[in-house]
Amino acid sequence: MTHDLLVVGSANVDLVVPADRRPGAGETVLGGDTVVSPGGKGANTAVAAARLGADVALAGAIGDDAYGTILTESLRGAGVHTDLLRTVHRPTGVAYITVTPDGENSILVSTGANAELAPADVEGASSGAKVVVASLEVPLPTVERAITVAAGAGARTLLNLSPAADVGETVLAAVDVLVVNEHEAAWLLGSSAEPARLLELGPRAAVVTIGARGALVATPSGTVEIAAPKVKAVDTTGAGDAFTGALAAALADAEELETAARRAAEVAAISVTRPGAQPSYPSAQELRRR
Ligand code: RIB
Ligand code: NA
Repeated sequence: MTHDLLVVGSANVDLVVPADRRPGAGETVLGGDTVVSPGGKGANTAVAAARLGADVALAGAIGDDAYGTILTESLRGAGVHTDLLRTVHRPTGVAYITVTPDGENSILVSTGANAELAPADVEGASSGAKVVVASLEVPLPTVERAITVAAGAGARTLLNLSPAADVGETVLAAVDVLVVNEHEAAWLLGSSAEPARLLELGPRAAVVTIGARGALVATPSGTVEIAAPKVKAVDTTGAGDAFTGALAAALADAEELETAARRAAEVAAISVTRPGAQPSYPSAQELRRR
């Protein structure tokens, strides 16, 4: 079955603990009640896009366990097609997340089933897709294959290089839109994270998310700053994935990159005002009402 948008990436259950501060090495900190919530960069991206009305499938891997069920239900509930979601003999990925009162998070991911997503799983997956998005947290060869095959088939390719990884030069050259945050941009470029310099690495365009300030969109004709609406952040977990999913959905809808980035910044801003990743993403209807 072909879909407009294919997302290749992880699916994790997020175990979120609110805490006044993060524990240091050898230290014990008491936190608040655990919230169990569907997450993972790939699943988040797919859910964000589907909520906005995109026809989207997730190529991913989960375990045959209760956490896998939580993810499948969240994906299907949002309207994400799960025909490319494989169940494997490893525990579903789990993200251990600490959220501090400023809304900032730190995340430790137990990769589990995500590690089993193989290049063969994405081989034919993108046929007919208009846009293919990949993020890390799944094996690098799988991401590289997904981008290369999709570009070869004429799809628009988005690479959300999160968490940062050493992607091959030929793969970066097959990327239409590279999406990174400031840390990932700095990791790619060294100290001076000038967005336009990301284009020297090969992609046709680069979008750098800059937290509450919005995003920078770099193309060969220059860099444009997209301001995000001002909001009170409660939980920034998955805001980058919301941005990427909304960006991909708008591009699959034939929007211009700048317009798509504006929409994405708005969606990400809404997501930080509510706890969790997937449960905080707005619907198309909510966006229209604003
Ligand atoms: O980007 C946020 C996501 O990172 C969380 O949902 C968590 O699962 C980790 O993958
Ligand atoms: Na949120």
